[in-house]
Amino acid sequence: MTVEPVSPPSTTVPAGDAAARPAARTRLARRVLDVPPSGIRKFFDVLATMPDVISLGVGEPDFTTPPQVVEEGVRSLRSGRTHYTSNYGTIELRRALARHLEKLYGVAYDPDKEILVTVGASEALGVALAAILDPGDEVIVPAPYWTTYPESIRLAGGVPVDVVADETTGYRVSVEQLEAARTENTKVLLFVSPSNPTGAVYTREQIEEIGRWAAEKGLWVLTDEIYEHLVYGDAEFHSLPVVVPELRDKCIVVNGVAKTYAMTGWRVGWVIGPKDVVKAATNLQSHATSNVSNVAQVAADGGERRTLRDVGHVGRRVRLQVGRRLDDVRGADEPAHPPAGHGIGLGDSVDHDADVGELRHQCR
Ligand SMILES: Cc1ncc(COP(=O)(O)O)c(C=O)c1O
Repeated sequence: MTVEPVSPPSTTVPAGDAAARPAARTRLARRVLDVPPSGIRKFFDVLATMPDVISLGVGEPDFTTPPQVVEEGVRSLRSGRTHYTSNYGTIELRRALARHLEKLYGVAYDPDKEILVTVGASEALGVALAAILDPGDEVIVPAPYWTTYPESIRLAGGVPVDVVADETTGYRVSVEQLEAARTENTKVLLFVSPSNPTGAVYTREQIEEIGRWAAEKGLWVLTDEIYEHLVYGDAEFHSLPVVVPELRDKCIVVNGVAKTYAMTGWRVGWVIGPKDVVKAATNLQSHATSNVSNVAQVAADGGERRTLRDVGHVGRRVRLQVGRRLDDVRGADEPAHPPAGHGIGLGDSVDHDADVGELRHQCR
């Protein structure tokens, strides 16, 4: 796909044409006024001022980036890596990601054309949605969800459609529920496993069923794999395009180093998907941020080269700390059961009868 520059509308609307203007001008753009701030970040800011309160608001390990990764970043600065990089991201990091996927899941992605390095998974989500949504396109979002999803969808012109799962299914939606929510305007399913905030992890069979349904209905699937390595107990992570390869041409993966390598502050994520989507998303990024900071990409590359044993170590440490903290809160006679995936273990921490509106209210 070639992405052509769009002509500015000001050249096509005659200066005196009042009908073409909005009824009342607002100081800030309506598009922005309609977007609520991230409730989780607000919560985070309040909790940061309260020394005796444990913050479960923001998904990040409470230990710092491994020292070897920090050293890689520092060394790169000293050796002069202080310049712009390609809009796609450094080729070293893209190759490391491609190698990682090949080694872990046996899937081949072209580091030149199918991978874009972004400012965290957050920007990956935004540019990927902007690359495929037209105004009015509906995006099905299993709920409860990370609060940024619906706002990223709206900012890209789309319409989020909630499909609510509760504790009876382990907070996992079924194909029947997804099909009931599908309309002629549905273009995308936004899928996440392991999920935040529920910690739900879908089984391979469930992922296969959902992926096959999406492929059969001609839908895009945007799958958020940011918690890929934070799974516990018997639960196993499965990547949707690996389980359902026939979906690959309409499947976009977003991911990043934040959770896996305790690198939330470095802001490195990526989009992996079909060439036309990656090219369009790169075009958008080239005008917005140009590229992710060079030093952060070098450090992320260091993280990607760490062994899987190290990755497991980070996951186990998070799990242990979550368990210990829950024990502290509830007392020794009520053992904690942290969820299968990363998340606050929704079933344990909120009122089961709360409806999803109330739940969102609690998160905002
Ligand atoms: C489900 C989910 N996806 C994406 C992100 C954003 O990740 P990043 O820090 O790489 O932007 C978060 C952050 O909490 C998250 O919970």
